[in-house]
Amino acid sequence: MAELTLPFFPDEAATDAGAPVIDLVGVGKTYTSGSIEFEALKGVDLRIDQGEYVAVMGPSGSGKSTLMNILGCLDTLTRGSYHLAGEDVGELDEIDLADIRNRRIGFVFQQFNLLPSLSALRNVELPLMYGRVHGPERKVRATAALERVGLGDRLANRPGELSGGQQQRVAVARALVGEPALLLADEPTGNLDSSSTHEILGLFDELHAQGRTIVLITHELEVAERAERVVRVMDGQITTAGTSDGGAR
Ligand SMILES: Nc1ncnc2c1ncn2[C@@H]1O[C@H](COP(=O)(O)OP(=O)(O)OP(=O)(O)O)[C@@H](O)[C@H]1O
Ligand SMILES: [Mg+2]
Repeated sequence: MAELTLPFFPDEAATDAGAPVIDLVGVGKTYTSGSIEFEALKGVDLRIDQGEYVAVMGPSGSGKSTLMNILGCLDTLTRGSYHLAGEDVGELDEIDLADIRNRRIGFVFQQFNLLPSLSALRNVELPLMYGRVHGPERKVRATAALERVGLGDRLANRPGELSGGQQQRVAVARALVGEPALLLADEPTGNLDSSSTHEILGLFDELHAQGRTIVLITHELEVAERAERVVRVMDGQITTAGTSDGGAR
């Protein structure tokens, strides 16, 4: 296992090695529309350590997407603190948030969000272009990421030439190619049939076994149960932070 894990963490020295990947303390989020305020998160405490695989579940309107947007540095918090891999995210402005997002987080969404005119390889290379990785190195790394998700023989195919499950695997390769501290997946199987769902969940199991930190947002119990810990969101609060070793506060 060690020899499999090591190549996936070349930047580990750059992160605060002992720090949790996610550390939320008393996080609140209030949306304001005109004179109306809505408190979508009400003091959330959540700690997720390196290598954990956590599912976030909850009914519609409970605050899952709000929480995901905060975890993903896509939105700012109203109260409390958030440290991502040891960095204080609460203090950052939008430009710095975009930077930490690019460096630390790989996203997988329900819609695969691939560019239809580009090959699988070029889609996976894209995040490295923003990271100013040079052409030949980009190609090597993107190829390795696609091989990692079992698509080494589909590098030249465009998204429209791939099945739904394969497209989502390209999206997972794209999320992983920058070696993020966190893989954040929002309903990643929401658009997949049962066999492709099985395929993607199997891939997540493998990534978890290799030491990846994964947070998966879902409303499906069968999907959530594949994770090692389930966090339940209800009415803007976390009702169960899970029972596995030490992850919960
Ligand atoms: N931009 C916004 N302005 C005002 N209220 C918002 C905004 N975004 C979300 N809300 C409210 O915050 C609450 C939580 O919304 P959120 O989208 O986080 O729920 P969710 O758990 O993701 O639901 P779903 O399962 O339907 O996606 C809801 O009551 C929603 O109406
Ligand atoms: Mg949502």
